[in-house]
Amino acid sequence: MDLKTVDLIVDRHQEKRTALISILHDVQDRYKYLPIEALKVVASRLRMDINEVYGVATFYKSFTLVPQGKHSITLCLGTACHVRGGPKILRELKSLLRIEPGQTTPDKQFSLNVVNCLGVCAIGPVMMVDQKFYGEMTSIKAKKIIEKINNKPSGVKS
Ligand code: FES
Repeated sequence: MDLKTVDLIVDRHQEKRTALISILHDVQDRYKYLPIEALKVVASRLRMDINEVYGVATFYKSFTLVPQGKHSITLCLGTACHVRGGPKILRELKSLLRIEPGQTTPDKQFSLNVVNCLGVCAIGPVMMVDQKFYGEMTSIKAKKIIEKINNKPSGVKS
């Protein structure tokens, strides 16, 4: 793994500890997750304890320490989305992808995550795929979106 990018990111934030969260966001944008090696570099460059950096990385739901798939699926299960059918959509996604939230499919195509709010409650239930919001989601719509990405009209199950 080329960690020079991590050094460049820390440089861009002028090695400021107060920029830790921004630095972690930039690192995650680059690698699509937070590799432990990158966290060690960040800790060293900011002269912080690795446990402190790790604590921040694991505290915020927006960070992941697990390698992500090519496509990121985030389902909201906050109250507004939950009462409008979020759990049924989650069951469909788990069945289609055969993974649990927080996991990536073995072929590294999809990662599935759940969050408590995506900030667009009015259009819930909401699913976000590769940074694009899909509102008024249903399990049928979710299945079609996955199928479209997979380009397999008959579904991802084979
Ligand atoms: S509760 Fe789902 S977007 Fe807010």
